[in-house]
Amino acid sequence: MSMGYSECSVVREGFPRPVPGTPSNVLEQFKSLKGKVVVVTGAAEGIGYAVSEAMAEVNANVALWYNSNDAAVAKADELAKAHNIKTAAYKVDVSDPQQVQDSISKVLSDFRRIDVFVANAGMAISKPILDQTLEEYRKQMSVNVDGVVACAKYAGEVFKRQGSGNLIITSSISAHIVNVPTDQPVYNGTKAFVTHFGKSLAREWREFARVNIVSPGFFDTKMGASPSAINEAYRMAVLGRQGHIKEIKGLYLYLASDASTYTTGADILIDGGYTLP
Ligand SMILES: NC(=O)c1ccc[n+]([C@@H]2O[C@H](COP(=O)([O-])OP(=O)(O)OC[C@H]3O[C@@H](n4cnc5c(N)ncnc54)[C@H](OP(=O)(O)O)[C@@H]3O)[C@@H](O)[C@H]2O)c1
Repeated sequence: MSMGYSECSVVREGFPRPVPGTPSNVLEQFKSLKGKVVVVTGAAEGIGYAVSEAMAEVNANVALWYNSNDAAVAKADELAKAHNIKTAAYKVDVSDPQQVQDSISKVLSDFRRIDVFVANAGMAISKPILDQTLEEYRKQMSVNVDGVVACAKYAGEVFKRQGSGNLIITSSISAHIVNVPTDQPVYNGTKAFVTHFGKSLAREWREFARVNIVSPGFFDTKMGASPSAINEAYRMAVLGRQGHIKEIKGLYLYLASDASTYTTGADILIDGGYTLP
């Protein structure tokens, strides 16, 4: 039963909490990322590289994690030179918790702290469950679910020790809707898991870290709309097209920076209006 005025008039010690002493100028809030350390998984291209570039453009130091695409190594060097920041590339299969744990230790020894962790790596084997092997199901779970859980667990330990941190999870509109025309229940399910997991962490970590979720619609990357789904992607999106990765940079920047100090547990759709109808 909900409380009446008399029951909820009890003063809670320590509340209200203090407002953070961040600048009121919004550009200064975004610039707060200067010198911070940001880890991005799936950073070699697509959304993850765009996020890495966004962080570098505001002079954050960036640890780019990749799995198979070692273009991340050269891209890390290019970002460091272009923006006079520190970067490094790490080869990490996020489905292997030991590699995740070891790589977080390596980032700490190279950069000394982790301010923001962007758990962005993901994959899809887009098939109906009746056409999918259990091995294919397990593969998607191992990257999209186990990978995000391991990254969150080991980054969260660092955040707790530091007394501050910021986790951003790349989920999908497929966590919100049963996407069409491709039947891909396992991929949809993995994204629904990480969305609710992220919201739950926002509460669990309330004393020391913020946690938010980005739910993209179709973006023109390797994981964007397949040839058989592209016409439906254009029709469903109110804006009539897929997103360009430059159009997602600002959202991650907002969530990573001091512009979003009152934002936690949010799940932000960025889908050109795809999920409106
Ligand atoms: N594009 C879209 O329309 C769309 C829509 C909604 C959500 N998303 C989500 O956005 C995220 C990024 O995807 P994207 O669109 O940018 O496609 P992408 O360029 O194919 O990026 C996927 C990334 O995940 C990494 N990855 C895959 N398996 C991995 C593993 N076992 N360990 C570590 N990294 C692994 C890949 O690394 P390597 O290349 O180095 O192997 C790749 O960089 C994914 O989580 C995806 O589900 C994308």
